[in-house]
Parts: sequence; C-alpha cells; structure tokens
Amino acid sequence: MTVHFIGAGPGAPDLLTLRGRDLIAACPVCLYAGSLVPTAILRHCPPDARIVDTAPLSLDAIVAEIVAAHDRGQDVARLHSGDLSLWSAMGEQVRRLRALAIPVTITPGVPAFAAAAAVLESELTLPGVAQSVVLTRTPGRASAMPPRETLAAFAATGATLAIHLSIHRLAEIVAALTPSYGADCPAAVVWRASWPDQRVARATLATLVQAAADGPERTALILVGRVIGAEEFADSRLYAADYERRFRPVADPA
Ligand SMILES: C[S@@+](CC[C@H](N)C(=O)[O-])C[C@H]1O[C@@H](n2cnc3c(N)ncnc32)[C@H](O)[C@@H]1O
Repeated sequence: MTVHFIGAGPGAPDLLTLRGRDLIAACPVCLYAGSLVPTAILRHCPPDARIVDTAPLSLDAIVAEIVAAHDRGQDVARLHSGDLSLWSAMGEQVRRLRALAIPVTITPGVPAFAAAAAVLESELTLPGVAQSVVLTRTPGRASAMPPRETLAAFAATGATLAIHLSIHRLAEIVAALTPSYGADCPAAVVWRASWPDQRVARATLATLVQAAADGPERTALILVGRVIGAEEFADSRLYAADYERRFRPVADPA
C-alpha cells in the first residue's frame, strides 16, 4: 500500500500531469484538498472510489483516513493544488507516514506562479533584467514568517517576486516594495489563474492597489518586477548564432 501525493495543478483540470491522472485512476481512495483542487479532476477516480474532501479535516483525521486505507490494503491518491513543494502541508503528512512506515511517492504539479506567468505571457527571468524569482508570502493568521524573510530584504535584490496568500495585504506590500523597485515598476495581480473565472489586473506599483480594488480577496498571485511586460532586454546568448554549445557547434568558417 502506498500514498501517492499528486500536485493537482493551478485549477484547469487539464493542467494535471499524465502520471498524476494515471495514479488517480489506479487508487481506490482519493483524498483531496477541496478548497483549491478542482473537482473536475476527481472524474479520473475509479467509479467506486472512496473520495474525501480534507478541507474540513484535521491532520489527525487525515492520517486516520490513510491508516484505514492502509489497513484495507488500498492505495491512496492525495491531491493538493498546484505543486507539492509550495505551501501544500505535504511535509507534515509525509513525516507522519514515515513514522508509520507507510510508503509514499510524490508527483509534481503545475504551480500557480507558473500559471500566473502564463496568463501574463511573461518569462520571469529575462537576461539583464532579473535572473531570480522569489516565491514568498506575507505572514498569515496561522503562519508567522521567519524574521529575515521580509519583503524589504527580497526587494533589495531586485528579483522578480511572486507573492502568495497575501492579496488582502496589497497596500502594505506596495508600500514595502516601492522604495526598492520604484513606483513605475510593473506589477500584476492574477486571480484564479487557469480557472474559468480567472481575472488579471496589470499596473505599476503606483497604480496596483487601485487596479486591483474590485478583485476578490482570495486565490490571487501578486507578481512584481521589471520582467513583466518588458520589451527592452537582450537576447539570451543560448540561441546566438556565434555561441557554441554542445548541441549546436558553430560552423567552421574555413
Ligand atoms: C496554499 S497556497 C498553494 C500553492 C500551491 N501549492 C502552488 O504550487 O501554487 C495557495 C495560494 O497559492 C496561490 N494560488 C493558488 N492557485 C492559484 C491560482 N489558480 N491563481 C492564482 N493564485 C493561486 C494564491 O496565492 C493562494 O493563496
């Protein structure tokens, strides 16, 4: 018996990996985080599968579901939104399962920041503009931030920022970032990227609060950085005609 953790993607049911789909189809039990996992993905479950929304459950209750499946010898598909490496609560579940000697596998998913970048048609790392992306959040009711992980500290690097779980603090975020990025720095909010009700507000730091004023207070990514909408950047050396690399040796002019 194995618990298969599967990244369910950002919302659109076809942004699920083939491996994830096949594992869901093979598991007689499916536990899914109902707050963000699209229920359309559940149609891949076998017809008689036990399907449990874990949004209202405690960690103890989730582990109890898994242990019951283990006792029945049934594999479990465990679905979380986006990818499992980001704010999925996978770590604490895997720790409990290791202690119980229950095997796990991990299948990655499309993260929300990638879906939001796709909506903006933006590459988040452009030559000479930004070469790093910071995936971060602001403190929440249940989650304090480590003291050195401040927006001001990340802003000092000029990296592209993808700020999660924080749309309700937009004005505060803009105030923290403006000294480093400048009021004219491009910024955007993407709500529910890839869902049918997806929304986008494109602005600068100076105008972002106003541009996003009538948007919902949930499930949004705030992206900040000069890569957004940039046209002025160098071509990458990778595809330059005179750049020799293993797969494309430069022709000998002789
Ligand atoms: C608990 S975190 C889950 C992140 C997820 N594991 C991932 O890989 O993207 C939830 C936050 O991710 C962001 N998020 C998740 N899905 C989103 C989407 N479709 N569009 C925009 N933001 C999204 C929002 O900031 C939301 O508050």
